[in-house]
Amino acid sequence: MRSLSLIASLSLASLLAAPAWSQSDLQHQAQQLFKPIPSTPPALPGNPATAQRVALGKMLYFDPRLSESHAISCNSCHMVGMGGVDLQETSLGHRWQHGGRNAPTVYNAVFDIAQFWDGRAKDLEQQAGGPLVNPVEMDTTEAHVVEQLRAIPGYVQAFAKAFPGGSDAITFENIRRAIALFEATLITPNAPFDRYLKGDAKALDASQREGLALFINKGCAACHAGINVGGAMYAPFGVVERPGAEILPPDDRGRFAVTKTASDAYVFRVPSLRNVALTPPYFHSGKVWDLRQAVAVMGSSQLGAQLTDAEIDSITAFLGSLSGDQPQVTLPILPPSVATTPRPKP
Ligand code: HEC
Ligand code: HEC
Repeated sequence: MRSLSLIASLSLASLLAAPAWSQSDLQHQAQQLFKPIPSTPPALPGNPATAQRVALGKMLYFDPRLSESHAISCNSCHMVGMGGVDLQETSLGHRWQHGGRNAPTVYNAVFDIAQFWDGRAKDLEQQAGGPLVNPVEMDTTEAHVVEQLRAIPGYVQAFAKAFPGGSDAITFENIRRAIALFEATLITPNAPFDRYLKGDAKALDASQREGLALFINKGCAACHAGINVGGAMYAPFGVVERPGAEILPPDDRGRFAVTKTASDAYVFRVPSLRNVALTPPYFHSGKVWDLRQAVAVMGSSQLGAQLTDAEIDSITAFLGSLSGDQPQVTLPILPPSVATTPRPKP
């Protein structure tokens, strides 16, 4: 079981009470635990990234006509140019309704083990259908979004080029596939921490290196590891001490809703910490705005450690080194509506 090996690695981490590592030991240790973000997008199985498909996915990502109101696009809640988030506690969707959770960033999401805070979608392709039909997000239906796009002549052409061979390229599945390919391009390489992992010991300053050592020694890296410094496993929020209802609202039991297994109550996918300094507020509830406070909460809830102010400062400085080159995206020109294109339903 995952949680057993987790407890084993956590107690191992606490046994290793802050060994006096040399700087090169620290860098070596980091290279074992983490991997740099690549400079080019990873391939998606069974979904070749042709230029036409990626360009179509970009149009769909920015097109509000995919929503019932024609007012909300993927970019409304995952803003390119703003860390891939909306900087809201919980997102504003259809008819100004708030959803139940904070919007995670789409940047580097392609590297996560599964999508959503509870991991209920296995990959980006499966995920992309969710918000379209979610009543508090874009509130359309599979049939309507297909009907909508079929009635925009520019999309008929763009889909035919992106998915050649079939007679009817505009399908819900192809919509999801194109969007997933565009999202896979939203990666943030070349963070100071990536340069450090690739061998440039000076890419982190002294305080960031101190924070990295604490991040490993205190046990944060038992859960937040790999290419995304997280995103690779599930864990309870409150391993040692469950946070109060103001941070962990009791009605959202996380992965329990997916697996219906009692031990999955309040279990969440460990989030990626890539670009975390750019994506407040924090936690699935979005209740914590200050990254330093989020670090302190993690110390007590996940590790039973009361971190000192100096420790919190260093760890927070290290987390700042995870902000990479933000994707530069040219806004697509969207194909015009015509007289027969369905109108918005407010
Ligand atoms: C109204 C706001 C809103 C809109 C519109 C929206 N999302 Fe989201 N998105 C969210 C929220 C909130 C979550 C987290 C929900 C959860 O975990 O249950 C999320 C989760 C995700 C995730 C998972 C990221 C992760 O780390 O788990 C991806 C990827 C994503 N959205 C992509 C999209 C795409 C693609 C679209 C357009 C088709 C879209 N979103 C539209 C709010 C929105
Ligand atoms: C036992 C696994 C585990 C350990 C150990 C752990 N975390 Fe977490 N971390 C999580 C989980 C799970 C969440 C998501 C909590 C939620 O919102 O439901 C999280 C969330 C976070 C967040 C908020 C990210 C966001 O985008 O909202 C930060 C920051 C963070 N952790 C930093 C740390 C630091 C720093 C440490 C060490 C002091 C640490 N974590 C230790 C599992 C862990």
